[in-house]
Amino acid sequence: MTSPSLTPIVHGIFDKATWTITYIVHQGVGSACAIIDSVLDYEPKSGRTSTTSAEKVIDYVTAHQLQVAWILETHAHADHVTAAPYLKKHLVGKTAIGDHITQVQKVFRGIFNLESTFQQDGSQFDHLLASDEVFQVGELVGKVLLVPGHTPACVAYQLGDAVFVGDTMFMPDVGTARCDFPGGDARTLYASTRKILSLPPETRLFMCHDYPPNERAVAFETTVAEQRAKNIHVHDGITEAQFVEMRTKRDATLEMPVLILPAVQINIRAGELPPQETNGVSYLKIPINAL
Ligand SMILES: [Fe+2]
Repeated sequence: MTSPSLTPIVHGIFDKATWTITYIVHQGVGSACAIIDSVLDYEPKSGRTSTTSAEKVIDYVTAHQLQVAWILETHAHADHVTAAPYLKKHLVGKTAIGDHITQVQKVFRGIFNLESTFQQDGSQFDHLLASDEVFQVGELVGKVLLVPGHTPACVAYQLGDAVFVGDTMFMPDVGTARCDFPGGDARTLYASTRKILSLPPETRLFMCHDYPPNERAVAFETTVAEQRAKNIHVHDGITEAQFVEMRTKRDATLEMPVLILPAVQINIRAGELPPQETNGVSYLKIPINAL
């Protein structure tokens, strides 16, 4: 059972380069914590990685003397590379993602014609989380909400009165996530947004990204009530058919994220690079016209 009465402390760290928010969820100095959707900096022109964003997570965890129980992903991100292995090395903690990641691994194994030793059973992660599975973060109880649509393996995490929605919806003035990646589906995303929006109105919702329009400041916390009243794509009254039509038309206009090719290839390996070649270097692939 989750404990919605509990109000965990949520610290968000915004990564300007990828518009991503990494969360550290805990119950005060010295408690256990979960890290959700971390970022490894990746420079696409050179293929160079760096850890400025991850160091901010490490600094916060260290300053608050937190013990990392979990390093969680809401899905295999297409717009940034996870820092999970780096954080695990420096902070310990178990890596985890929704168990439908195996479907995503199968699809991208085909698209990238990955090496025959690439495992498509999710074993790169320490643990695969099933729908409705509960997990402990110290005394805080977490619950996995399966919310596919953006990808077939998306999950949200409910920790006390806070839900980390991943790429299902964004702030009310931005709307919802795209559904045109392999295995994505607008009808499915609509159902997932209704699932989240059926939670108690005061439930705090934390976005995985913010793309602030009209020069508003970056924001990443809202509530079920606010989304139901104001989300431009899924406020109360918008039907599934209206949503699917809007989402499909809009997705047809969107370019691929700058980091999709490196991000997907690394994130389906839980953040590890592909096997080194004989010269000791890892390489990523660019399929021509395949995505
Ligand atoms: Fe995403």
